[in-house]
Amino acid sequence: MTLSERVKTLQPSPTLALAAKAKALAAEGRDLVAFTAGEPDFDTPAEIVEAAVQALREGKTRYTPSGGIPELRRAVAAMINRDRGLSWSEKNVHIASGAKQALYHLFQALLDPGDEVIVPTPYWVSYPEQIHLAGGVPVFVPTRPEDGYKLTPEALERAIGPRTKAFVLNSPSNPTGAMYTEEELFGLFSVLVHRPVWIIADEIYERLVYDGPHTSIIAVDPQAVERTVIVSGVSKTYAMTGWRIGWAAAADERLIRALDDLASQSTSNPTTFAQYGALAAVTMDPAPVAAMVEAFRRRRDLIVERIAGVPGLRAFRPSGAFYLWVDVREAMERQGFPDADRWAAALLEEAGVVVVPGSGFGDAGHVRLSFALGEAAIEEGVRRLAAFVGRRREV
Ligand SMILES: Cc1ncc(COP(=O)(O)O)c(C=O)c1O
Repeated sequence: MTLSERVKTLQPSPTLALAAKAKALAAEGRDLVAFTAGEPDFDTPAEIVEAAVQALREGKTRYTPSGGIPELRRAVAAMINRDRGLSWSEKNVHIASGAKQALYHLFQALLDPGDEVIVPTPYWVSYPEQIHLAGGVPVFVPTRPEDGYKLTPEALERAIGPRTKAFVLNSPSNPTGAMYTEEELFGLFSVLVHRPVWIIADEIYERLVYDGPHTSIIAVDPQAVERTVIVSGVSKTYAMTGWRIGWAAAADERLIRALDDLASQSTSNPTTFAQYGALAAVTMDPAPVAAMVEAFRRRRDLIVERIAGVPGLRAFRPSGAFYLWVDVREAMERQGFPDADRWAAALLEEAGVVVVPGSGFGDAGHVRLSFALGEAAIEEGVRRLAAFVGRRREV
């Protein structure tokens, strides 16, 4: 009795595993500061909750179309049209159980065995696994801190080959928080313009930005419209991670129908009343979102400043999302650790601080700290980190 090769080689999400471990240790009474959260620590705004409750009361408890209720599809299209100058309709939007599932469907719909997908590193943990699950091959292209962890047109050009089918662009990025400017996006698109390569624009952090507005690659050139798929959702913007509603949106209606068909044979549809909550989210007054972004901006400034005061750690200042990408190589070497995985394990054991090692993001010399936690916890966590970094490993 054997399991498939597919699951034997599958890497479960390291970020979810670590967040679960931190929660379990805290439940046992360990005094921890967990910089692991991949989700806002705020509550879902009350009017969104109310809309979902109302939907339940009204008996909206049955199956919906596999690609989501038309009202939500239309509302998402309207939002995309407003922000990116398009004229899409509900036929251009596939609602899924989270952006993660939208991406899963997308790789299933786009890739044949051996097709290559260009993935800049460091990357969000799920891209390589989802590409493998679809029979594809991730082609990793490193980005450099001196380029602000952004892919250059030259590096993109070098990575493209005859089997390149898609390019994943995550801006703002998880784990670095790097956000591409319009000019940089234009540079990347110029490389792709005459090549049959899909652009998967993961814009899930599009509204959590601190140094100016977000630009989508789809908006930099009219020719980008036909080949770009926008992936986003309500999880991060509206503090709705557990609701599991996200989407993929594209000009190509054939692709959207294929995504709907895939959903029809897997989940049938995203949870019905959660879709009504998401509808309230994307159509509501954005004030609660602005307040959350302001809180994240203050935390970003605080954590960047505090980490800058810890010798041996070098942090990249993020422009979006709620993560700090920290180069720990100097501290690691000085303290006598061979890699960031073991450094992070000792940090947890000895100082009760939980960070995500960079190996899951494709870079073993870094760790990711989430700043989706209160300012007092950030201060305390960095104090513990500084004390830990000051100690040598006992061998
Ligand atoms: C870059 C990126 N894309 C997609 C997702 C998936 O979001 P969800 O499935 O909650 O909509 C995440 C969540 O952590 C993410 O960081």
